[in-house]
Amino acid sequence: MALLAIFLSLLVPAVISVAFLPKTLCLLAELVGHRLRRSSSTRRQLLLDRVATETKNFETEHKQKSREDDDWENIAPSPVGSAVNGGTAGADWKGIVGFFHPFCNAGGGGERVLWAAIRATQKRWPDAVCVVYTGDHDAHKDVILKRVKDRFNIHLHPPTVHFLYLTTRNWVLASTWPRFTLLGQSLGSIVLAYDAFSLLVPDIFIDTMGYAFALALSSSFFPDVPTGAYVHYPTISTDMLDSLQAGGQGVNAGTGEGYRGVAKKKYWQLFAKLYSKVGSTIDVVMTNSTWTQSHIQSLWGSYRQQRSQLVNKDITVVFPPVAVEDVTEAVEVSEASEKKRGPYLLYIAQFRPEKNHQLILEAFASFIHSNPKLKAYPDQVPKLILIGSVRGSHDDAKRVYKLRLLAHELKIDDNTEFLCDAPWPLMLEWMASASVGVNGMWNEHFGIGVVEYQAAGLISVVNDSGGPKLDIVVEVEGKPTGFHATTAKEYADGFYKALTLSPQETLAMRHRARKSAERFTDRGFSEKWLTNMEKLVALQVDRAKKR
Ligand SMILES: *[C@@H]1O[C@H](CO)[C@@H](O)[C@H](O)[C@H]1NC(C)=O
Ligand SMILES: *[C@@H]1O[C@H](CO)[C@@H](O)[C@H](O)[C@H]1NC(C)=O
Repeated sequence: MALLAIFLSLLVPAVISVAFLPKTLCLLAELVGHRLRRSSSTRRQLLLDRVATETKNFETEHKQKSREDDDWENIAPSPVGSAVNGGTAGADWKGIVGFFHPFCNAGGGGERVLWAAIRATQKRWPDAVCVVYTGDHDAHKDVILKRVKDRFNIHLHPPTVHFLYLTTRNWVLASTWPRFTLLGQSLGSIVLAYDAFSLLVPDIFIDTMGYAFALALSSSFFPDVPTGAYVHYPTISTDMLDSLQAGGQGVNAGTGEGYRGVAKKKYWQLFAKLYSKVGSTIDVVMTNSTWTQSHIQSLWGSYRQQRSQLVNKDITVVFPPVAVEDVTEAVEVSEASEKKRGPYLLYIAQFRPEKNHQLILEAFASFIHSNPKLKAYPDQVPKLILIGSVRGSHDDAKRVYKLRLLAHELKIDDNTEFLCDAPWPLMLEWMASASVGVNGMWNEHFGIGVVEYQAAGLISVVNDSGGPKLDIVVEVEGKPTGFHATTAKEYADGFYKALTLSPQETLAMRHRARKSAERFTDRGFSEKWLTNMEKLVALQVDRAKKR
């Protein structure tokens, strides 16, 4: 413990000095940066040579090959090929964009964002080079690119994407820092970033995993290199800080009491302050949702406003891409397709307690027992279809059993259907034949399922909280795309309202819902990503001129 305390007392000034350097330290940092740039310049040249060779090989190879399996060029030309807003960022920019993503082969939602971002960047600036700093040593470029294709159906242009392998990734693992994890991992990310810069100094540096401290290190070493952050989740949130207060909620509730509690509170407050300082050094900040944006805004916002060097002080929301097109291609929304839809409510969610299936069953029961007159569906019985996976989970299976019992008690067995582990085609069938999409979870950060409802033209009835409220079921052209509810009664009312709209309004709302879902397509993501990328390129061009 004593050792740790000493260690920590050394770490804190080190981290602080990165966050806001006094003049002399600034110069020192720039000197280090200068050295790093010089020592990695050979590698930079080698990389550019390799890009040139691979480009040439790729072109000859693809001239010979039949056009059919040329998946790179078969991608429909994107509408974002030309300069947005007539910015100074011409298509001929040819710098190196460094993506800091130490776990790039993980295959999760965060990686989907990384690959979609690289693809958009490649299309907009064909001569630019994207390098990914990763710790996945075992994964060779071909293996990674193949996986990206198989897993996400994203086809990258091989010659202009490259990987640089970091050797110090264990510095950012939580297991390396059993205590003071927040500070430890942040310090670890500084070490990792140093590792990255000793391999290659990019022209633009972007973090897509939440390592804000790595970006701060970049701007202290290389003030002319613009930095960007795509934040999925704040490293420390205002909720966490509040939770320490007596009467707070969550795992840390009330632990703010006593000697240890006070120390913990001080530590978190110090960390939050550091994190906020660091956040104010980043040139362009994007977040994946309104929820994350408001948290980041409350931490970084005022510091960013104060910093006069920052050109882009605002924090923009860039929604990650969801496979909306898979649904829109399979499900029709038109006057003709209205005949195929019945008074069916669809709830797609894992059978987990937080999804609140119970309340939805209760709400549906009170809707049914109110004997609603549904003019649009004279001979059809309303139904609630619950689709979810229980794969391998005994607890989930037990919950389904209990929910069935509840449906029986509520006397709605004939109106409810449970579909466990339904395959995708069956889900699509229900999306095409149902009328309403339901979500019962409180404060869901996002809700991919709700986006899918909208893509299928379903009218949503969702909890009045979290992502479904803030980001998804919002107005389009000033008119609603669904209904928000809190209590069982409000849900029942929502079901009634959704099923008794006039035929014209029903169809209009379905079209608006689909339009709303477009914001979450690959194209929607690319456009917003490039708007932000253009700011970075413009900054790079501008600063290079001044150098
Ligand atoms: C943003 O990222 C967090 C953390 O990965 C995730 O929980 C959340 O669902 C994401 N939001 C969106 C809109 O994808
Ligand atoms: C919906 O959200 C509200 C807060 O907005 C919460 O009080 C309520 O319990 C939630 N309902 C469900 C069904 O989760």
